[in-house]
Amino acid sequence: MPTAPRTRTARLARTLPFALALAIGAPAQADDADVAAVGKERFGSYCAACHGLDAKGDGPVAFVLKKTPPDLTVLAKNNGGDFPFNKVYDMIDGRDMAGAHGTREMPVWGGEWKDSSKLGGETELRGRLLEIIIYLRSIQQ
Ligand code: HEC
Repeated sequence: MPTAPRTRTARLARTLPFALALAIGAPAQADDADVAAVGKERFGSYCAACHGLDAKGDGPVAFVLKKTPPDLTVLAKNNGGDFPFNKVYDMIDGRDMAGAHGTREMPVWGGEWKDSSKLGGETELRGRLLEIIIYLRSIQQ
């Protein structure tokens, strides 16, 4: 069949994007694990005092708070199985929520980190938030 090579090329052209997506997908997951490891460290530094090292809400200073810090391993479970990415982001960043949550006891991390001299700007801040969120997503029950 004279058309065979062309058909094969067409088939290859159709499958190539999927093959590439698979090839790219594998290292992307490994990257996620690396990011989660960094996020875990940050969680230990900034969050564990209240939420506990295991994120279950039993950190050493939790008892001085009026509100019990929530268990952060059931965020997906409490949201019908979907990790509520945007809600978690806004909650940790906190800058959009100031005022609306007058009784908020958790620090406004977006503000804290933005002001600290260690973080250059909004991009670094977003990176730090994402590291922690990807870690939290990885420990959902
Ligand atoms: C000073 C104690 C304290 C620290 C430190 C703290 N939190 Fe919280 N967190 C709370 C409390 C209390 C709440 C409940 C909401 C509120 O503030 O009233 C909360 C709520 C949350 C929620 C919302 C959970 C839900 O069920 O909706 C997330 C997500 C969260 N914290 C993540 C973090 C992360 C990530 C860090 C570290 C960057 C952190 N928290 C540090 C006390 C703390």
